Amino acid sequence: MKNLLAAVLLAAVSCGATRNLTFPDGFWFGAGSAAYQVEGAWNTSGKGESIWDRLSHSKQALNPQTETADVAADQYHHYKEDVQGLKKVGFNFYRFSVSWPRVLPKGDLSVINQDGLDYYNNLINELVNNDIVPIVTMYHWDLPQHLQDLGGFANDIIIDYFEDYANLLFTHYGDRVKWWITFNEPLSFVNGYSSTMIAPAVNAPGVGLYLAAHNVLKAHARVYHLYDDHFRSQQRGKVGITLNTEYPMPKTNSEADINATEIYLQFQLGWFAHPIYSSEGDYPAVMKERVANKSRAEGLPRSRLPEFDEHWVKYIRGTHDFYGMNLYTANLISLSNTTADATVPPNSDMGSIIAEQDPSWPYEGLNSFRYTPFAMRKMLKLISDNYNNVSIFITENGWCDHGEINDTMRARFLVNYYAAVLDAIHLDNVNVIGHTTWAFVDTFEWFTYSTRFGLFYVNFTDPARPRTPKFSTTILSSIIKTRKLPEEYLDKE
Ligand code: BGC
Repeated sequence: MKNLLAAVLLAAVSCGATRNLTFPDGFWFGAGSAAYQVEGAWNTSGKGESIWDRLSHSKQALNPQTETADVAADQYHHYKEDVQGLKKVGFNFYRFSVSWPRVLPKGDLSVINQDGLDYYNNLINELVNNDIVPIVTMYHWDLPQHLQDLGGFANDIIIDYFEDYANLLFTHYGDRVKWWITFNEPLSFVNGYSSTMIAPAVNAPGVGLYLAAHNVLKAHARVYHLYDDHFRSQQRGKVGITLNTEYPMPKTNSEADINATEIYLQFQLGWFAHPIYSSEGDYPAVMKERVANKSRAEGLPRSRLPEFDEHWVKYIRGTHDFYGMNLYTANLISLSNTTADATVPPNSDMGSIIAEQDPSWPYEGLNSFRYTPFAMRKMLKLISDNYNNVSIFITENGWCDHGEINDTMRARFLVNYYAAVLDAIHLDNVNVIGHTTWAFVDTFEWFTYSTRFGLFYVNFTDPARPRTPKFSTTILSSIIKTRKLPEEYLDKE
């Protein structure tokens, strides 16, 4: 009998039947969006111009084919319908961002736009009345142009302005909003201070992005402390930041590639995570050392990476109630044997490091967004191990294609990435609060509409912007209802 039981158990393990596919109680499911990517109504009812309005319009003036998000999915006029869509799928929460220039057209408190405040008030009420928890990002890349004219994140006056803006949001919405994300992906948006590819298109490589990041970290901490000092005791919410890095893995087992991966990780993730989430605080040692050495070699009198004094190290350290993690895919990291691969900082500060993807990893939309479900479990564990078992909220994760309604690959993506989340929870004891599918509706994908992340298809050529639920929403609905993953879409191990 004992032997029979052992044989049955062994068979179960070898065919993977013991994989726990059930979500723990309290695990949250949601979908996300960002103001500039979905709202449209770019100059409606007193909204000010943002840096993305400015950049897309100036590109369009040069090339009429350039897409803008002037209308996008027009969520500004469709928010009630979208809340019904969220409800129909069964989502527990909606992650959206507030457009700073919609509520403060000039960025500072000189003009407060009541219509803008009302819009988010109505959206929040609509969500709450439909039992959907609002999760609010304060900054998803659309800085008021007026503040950019003063230098944007390169000017440390931004710390005061961001605090004023956050204060306004806590005051107006904090009775109903209990989850706040200060910044979305600083690693991505500070590139707007080192190239002309994204807003604000300030071409100051090696200097601008480090300066902007420095002020982002200080502004984040200021807002966390503001919440602690003035709002937390009554509102009892949580404040965090959303960081991103695709899961970096050494391309080969060579020591050189393993070292390169560690350096890359610290320059990508450690840059923002170490000051906030590590026990010591401050930038990672390897980053400080490398940028200082490189700056010296360039004949500069000081490091291009600004320094935090002791006050700021302490003030920033620990300013989190959760870790917001955006994760889509993986990267293979290797040490290049030519320096030509790394001429621009921060790449040149890292050394000659190459980040690439395995061509065998599938993709349907953008080839940098390849299907790598293993990256999810590994990244969750890496963050948990490196940052004291912090609670992680997956604030973005999703699949892009060219708009298939019968999006079976998105269903496969979600099921297998969810399974990896469950492995991290059940096997690695990682603390995961919930998962946000990116995106709820098709978005303006930062210059294009042809790459689509939405669970709901949006017809961008129809002025009425009709939405159509894609096939993956039915799979999601049933997962949320049963709190269990269907075997049908699971990849064979
Ligand atoms: C950004 C989103 C974007 C998504 C897909 C993330 O980096 O936060 O705004 O749509 O990636 O590119």
